[in-house]
Amino acid sequence: PPLYIITPTYRRAEQLPELTRFAHTLMLVPNVYWLVIEDAFEKSSLVAKLLEKTGLRYEHLIAPMPEQYKNKKSGPKPRGVSNRNRGIQWVRDNAADGVMYFADDDNTYDLELFHEMRYTKRVSMFPVGLITKLGVSSPVVKNGVFSGFYDGWIAGRKFPVDMAGFAVSVKFLLQRPNATMPYKPGYEEDGFLKSLKPFEPKEIELLASNCSRILVWHTQTKRNDPSSSLDLKAYGNTNIAILKK
Ligand code: UGA
Ligand code: MN
Repeated sequence: PPLYIITPTYRRAEQLPELTRFAHTLMLVPNVYWLVIEDAFEKSSLVAKLLEKTGLRYEHLIAPMPEQYKNKKSGPKPRGVSNRNRGIQWVRDNAADGVMYFADDDNTYDLELFHEMRYTKRVSMFPVGLITKLGVSSPVVKNGVFSGFYDGWIAGRKFPVDMAGFAVSVKFLLQRPNATMPYKPGYEEDGFLKSLKPFEPKEIELLASNCSRILVWHTQTKRNDPSSSLDLKAYGNTNIAILKK
């Protein structure tokens, strides 16, 4: 069965390096469709070139964050939500089976993760490393049975998990035409998983050896804001493709 990997991305200096790293991971995974969805009003030609070069099967889409959230003066924004909902829409329109996974552009993925999730029947889960002060977010498994969640920010969530910590069967998704991700910072995962109702935590398929192995890490790249603009006279090369803010 195919894997549909939904990757939100947006313009910044780190965008091309992040996508390059992830592309090289996916180039080692059989039978994947990479849905790369930019939070932008038009597609970036640099991203388009990168995607073409990989030889992967991909879709390059756009889904800008709605203005009301983008213009918010304070507090967290619903990052990647418009992108993921666009990806879900594409899967609904184009896929019949397989597995859907939300993979942010900056995380680090072990190839084994993609083997693990491939036979997801409904919703599978697995630990995510380097997340919150606890260092890991995961379902808790006792005697082979789901017994709760370990996460640094439970916050009243029914599914206190990270975006990278679960995969969903496409057939299961298609049976739930109203499933969607809410524009609710901090509650995107919980809201989406709750929208897959009926589905209860005890039904989670526990992967990665009963959630004892970390196969994905929530790595975060430090910002590399160039403090000055590119001096083309000094540098000489006018064809350089560098993404700037
Ligand atoms: C944390 C969680 O680990 C994510 O699963 C969750 O999506 C995110 O918070 C969130 O705020 O919803 P974090 O590392 O803080 O992740 O967030 P980013 O990696 O900065 O952004 C998540 C994804 O959205 C990335 O793929 C990023 O490229 C994309 N994004 C971010 C946009 O499309 N637009 C933005 O303005 C910012
Ligand atoms: Mn991230």
